[in-house]
Amino acid sequence: MKVLVVGNGGREHALCWKLAQSPRADIVFCAPGNAGTATETGLPIQNVDIPATDTARLVAFAKDNEIGLTVVGPEAPLVAGLVDALEAAGLRAFGPSRAAAELEGSKVFCKELLRHGDIPTGDFHTFRTGEEATTFLNERESQPLVLKADGLAAGKGVIVCGSRDEALDAVQRIAGDKEFGAAGNRLLIEERLHGQEVSILAITDGKSIIALPAAQDHKPAYDGDQGPNTGGMGAYCPAPIVDDALLRRVEEEILVPTVHHMKRKRRPFRGVLYAGLMLTKQGPKVLEYNVRFGDPECQPVLMRLKSDLLDVLEATADGRLDEAPRLEWDPRPAVCVVMASEGYPGSYEKGHVISGLDQAANVPNVKVFHAGTASIDGDVVNVGGRVLGVTAIGDTVPAAKLSAYTAVKAIRWRGAWCRKDIADKAVSVDKVVVKDERTRFG
Ligand code: AMP
Ligand code: GLY
Repeated sequence: MKVLVVGNGGREHALCWKLAQSPRADIVFCAPGNAGTATETGLPIQNVDIPATDTARLVAFAKDNEIGLTVVGPEAPLVAGLVDALEAAGLRAFGPSRAAAELEGSKVFCKELLRHGDIPTGDFHTFRTGEEATTFLNERESQPLVLKADGLAAGKGVIVCGSRDEALDAVQRIAGDKEFGAAGNRLLIEERLHGQEVSILAITDGKSIIALPAAQDHKPAYDGDQGPNTGGMGAYCPAPIVDDALLRRVEEEILVPTVHHMKRKRRPFRGVLYAGLMLTKQGPKVLEYNVRFGDPECQPVLMRLKSDLLDVLEATADGRLDEAPRLEWDPRPAVCVVMASEGYPGSYEKGHVISGLDQAANVPNVKVFHAGTASIDGDVVNVGGRVLGVTAIGDTVPAAKLSAYTAVKAIRWRGAWCRKDIADKAVSVDKVVVKDERTRFG
């Protein structure tokens, strides 16, 4: 079968790498892909120069090339209706329809669905104007709150506030300054929840649900969860904080009712349902839903998956997930460390040559997934904020962490940096010490 993966991040490199290992995959195209998918050796992966947002050309390519399954990585093409367009052309696709992708595309839609379904989530209020939100805040005591722009804002439209003044400032940024553009046409004020955050991803065809082992992301830019929010600076899987009983509880109280309510709303959900959860004292509560694999969670999750991913995604697209065999997992943990460009999540320089990728690839149990990279004149250069996802598997979390950071140290470009504490949350006792204390490399 010919497969098409849409997107150009670390998640898409990992998806291509895993799908191409299927004996049934003749070739995996990646549109538009990155230097990692362009240079992957030993696997049938090939880049196609079509942006993830160009629905018409993607559909034409899939038709012309008789693509058996298109796997859509990022949220924007899902929210824009790429899966609907592919299916309308008689093509098979993995991912939710436009209507179902609203779960991520509109935080107001998501929270209202959770409320109607009695699914645990923080209390919230929605507003159409900054004035309404300001009045609401001024009528209440100063308290910790979270302000959110309704629409897609590349993970940036969430402002965690400690006081009324901070919340008023956030209203100004979202509704007044339109910092997140049209995403801020509606805004939410949410109760601020406390606890550990985990990501639980599930594959569903709208009838059956397979929860994947829990992963933990590291959203703040700097060590100790300090600094601005990012797309994710690293992840590990499994997250020991989620035991089997908690995973079952999340399935019963959160995932199953969500899939059920989406069906009742005539927006059947098919694809990856990614629950961003806060483990509060009252139990797990939904912070948000994403409608796709997480990036970087996808990288350590897929590194541990032993089953054929193509079989599972195809069964999901066909609505026969109940027939798919049980997923087999490597029991060992995996850790992914994101290396980023200097300045990220703000502005950054592009075009610096990256060295040491071959040495890094030779570190045992390591796979370097590319994200914001491009091949230019035989060199690999940085072109994005998150550049590489250096992922390792090991007998223990410290062992996997050590392998990942050993590979990280081999890689250099001007301004490269990473967090040094990825996966420390998973390690309560035997903490690994990364001898080289620098956060900057090269
Ligand atoms: P989201 O994109 O909604 O997951 O928000 C991004 C980040 O903001 C989350 O990973 C949390 O760290 C934080 N956040 C979002 N909503 C809340 C909330 N209600 N309480 C506390 N933190 C939150
Ligand atoms: N890692 C967070 C996300 O994929 O949205």
